[in-house]
Order: sequence, then C-alpha cells, then structure tokens
Amino acid sequence: MICADVVPEKVERLSRGEIPILEAGLPELVRANVERGRLSFVLGAGAAVPTAEFVYLCVPTPQGADGSADLSYIRAAAEEIGPLLPSECVVVNKSTVPVGSTRVVEEVLGRDDVSVVSNPEFLREGSAVHDFMHPDRIVIGADDQTAAVRVASLFDDLRAPVIVTDPASAETIKYASNAFLAAKVTFANAVANVCEAVGADVRDVLLGMGYDKRIGFEFLKPGPGYGGSCFPKDINALIRIAEDAGYDFGLLRGVDEVNKAQFGRVVAKVERMAGGSVEGKAIAAWGLTFKARTDDLRDSPALEVLRRLTGKGARVRAYDPAVDPATATDDPRLEGIAVGTDPYGVCEGAAVLVVLTEWDEFRRLDFTKLATALEQPRIVDARNLLDPAALRRRGFLYEGVGR
Ligand code: UDX
Repeated sequence: MICADVVPEKVERLSRGEIPILEAGLPELVRANVERGRLSFVLGAGAAVPTAEFVYLCVPTPQGADGSADLSYIRAAAEEIGPLLPSECVVVNKSTVPVGSTRVVEEVLGRDDVSVVSNPEFLREGSAVHDFMHPDRIVIGADDQTAAVRVASLFDDLRAPVIVTDPASAETIKYASNAFLAAKVTFANAVANVCEAVGADVRDVLLGMGYDKRIGFEFLKPGPGYGGSCFPKDINALIRIAEDAGYDFGLLRGVDEVNKAQFGRVVAKVERMAGGSVEGKAIAAWGLTFKARTDDLRDSPALEVLRRLTGKGARVRAYDPAVDPATATDDPRLEGIAVGTDPYGVCEGAAVLVVLTEWDEFRRLDFTKLATALEQPRIVDARNLLDPAALRRRGFLYEGVGR
C-alpha cells in the first residue's frame, strides 16, 4: 500500500514510523508494515497512483461557512489523480461526503475506463485500529457491480456483513449512522436533565432502558454534550443536505440545539458550585480532549465549557494526560487556559474542579490530596466518572449529570 499526501513533513514523519496522533495500536501497525515493505508514504499522487488497482480518497471534508461540507479537497484530489489513473482501476471514496459526491468525483475524473465507489468508514478515534479489524458492517455504494465485488474482496478476511448498494444510499448510511448516534447521546443527556429535575438517577434509568435489546447500552452515556471532528460537522451537513433536497430535518436541528444547551448546563453547575459566579475565581479542569484515549481537541465540549467560563471572568487551569503544556501555548484553541503538568497542581486554590473528559486515570487519583489542594472540596463531574458516595464521605460537594 502506498499512501500519498501533499504535506512533505507529514510524509517524512510517517516514513520514519512517527504517528502524529494518539491512536492505540497504530504506531505498531504502521512500523511493522513499513519494515516488511508492505506500506510506504510518498509525496504527491504521481508517486502512488499510476500503478494502483484501487485508489482510496481519504481527504478532509470540513464544514463550510453555511454548514454544508466543503468539497474543495476532494475535487482537488480527483483533479490531480484523473490523468494518472491506470485503466480499470477503482477509485474509492472513504471521506464523508455529501450525497451525490461519488458522481461529482466521476465527473471531475472524466474517465470512462475507471469506476468510482463509495466505501464509508465507521471508525471511532482512539479505537480506530480495533474498529477497522472488527467492523459491524462494510458498506459499498457502486453502480458498477464488478467494481463493488472487487472492493468487497479487499475485506474478505474481516468476515463482516457486506452491504452493496447504490452510491447515494452508501453516502446516506454514513451520515444517518452518525446522526443517529449523536441523537442517541443527546437523548441520554436530555433524560439526565429530566432526572435532575425529578430526583431520579440517570444511571439506573439508562440501565433499565438498555437491557431492552431494541435500545441497548451503547452511546447512552450522559456527559457535557457530544463533540469531536465528526458528529457536529456531520449533523450540520445532514441538516443541510436534507434542506437542499426540500426536507426539513427538524429532529436533527433539535439534537444540535439540545447538545449546545448541554455545554451551558455544565457552566451553570460550575457557577452554582462557585457560589453563584466564577468572576475572578480560579477554576480547575480535568480533561481537554473531546473524549478519552485521543489527543484530539477539535470541537471538544471541554474547550467550549472552559471558553464560556473564561468568558465569565474565571481563571481556568487545566490538566489533560494527552495535552503537553509545552506545546499548548502555541495552540489558539487553548488561549486563556493555563495547561498544567499534573492533576493536583492545577487544583491549587481553585474554587471548583470540573471533570470534562472521561480519562480512566482520573478515577484513581488521590482525593485526599485533591481536597487539600482545592480551596474548597467541590467537584462538578460532567462525565459521571467519579464515585459520588466516596467523595461525599471525604467531605466533597459533588454534582454529576442526572444523579
Ligand atoms: C464518531 C463515530 O462513532 C464513528 O463511527 C465515525 O466514523 C466518526 O465519528 P468519534 O468522533 O471518534 O467517532 O467519537 P465517538 O466515540 O462517536 O464520540 C463522539 C462524541 O460523543 C464524543 O464527544 C463523546 O464523548 C460523546 N459520547 C459518546 C457521549 O457523550 N456519550 C456516549 O455514550 C458516547
């Protein structure tokens, strides 16, 4: 497999086996295959495409100004590879692209002797290697059945169900899956909010719901709202796709609204715990990434909550096991947040500690030491990560989500 990119530094680092992101199992996988000569990284499509049987397009599709997906990267890639593709090769769209993009790629390529197939991915950051090796399903969208069968054969060893459909349906499967999962998380958050209002415990409520096989336990953990590089962008893109096609996806607009309100609820809890206002107060935070086991800060709910707190005059100090304080100062997303090297240090003299990412190591910290570091032992646990009873026994004021 030959991987091409347009950024020289990225290609050099990957060739040396350096993986620029935190992704379990990926460094070992890349190094092993580079060493065996099965994987290489090159600059520009010209060094990768002319001998390929399959060309996977894995370019970003960021959110454009109007909420729709920005197709400029995929168009540019298609323009670049069009003249280079060998006859009978299959171009596979891996990027999450609006419905109809397989056709767009076909048009830009302008090649009758090449097929274009949609093959969306469903990998989660942090467990991408595992998810790739154990897929729930493989989705292939193609008009050309021979090309579909050729792409399906690449996944033979994975023994997963294969759904072969038309390109528009494959593209819709990707968006609808992400939107459904985001709606599921949001439903759990809304139920947690009801629990807070009526005095119920959301963990028991969701447990009681989850045993129903039609509902299940996955993606029902309440938290500070969903984030990351996919859900927010894909939800907006689907709202836009539907709108452009004449359907008002009001349900998803509701999901987006409830999700944004969830950030505000965490902020309000911190304010209440701080005695009504955070103005001029030190607030400590554990967790900056959009979820645990990744170093990704893109669209992180933690950052949104902290930005709102600094906006209200709080002095925020934060610790995250995947964020290096040495590089944090250069990251504009962390502006106004003092990133510390240890979880207790950031709590020194803080009025409240807010837990925003569900890193396992936070469960195992020394809470007696924490109580002495904080100005008052007060915790807002936006991930329901910690044990409220144990904390209350140690004299903490504790507030979770929905319990
Ligand atoms: C998601 C999809 O899961 C994946 O299939 C797709 O390919 C890419 O988008 P990812 O962005 O890595 O993957 O994150 P995911 O694990 O789905 O979590 C998204 C957000 O929802 C995170 O902010 C996470 O903390 C939140 N979440 C998830 C919850 O708050 N509760 C849950 O129960 C699950």
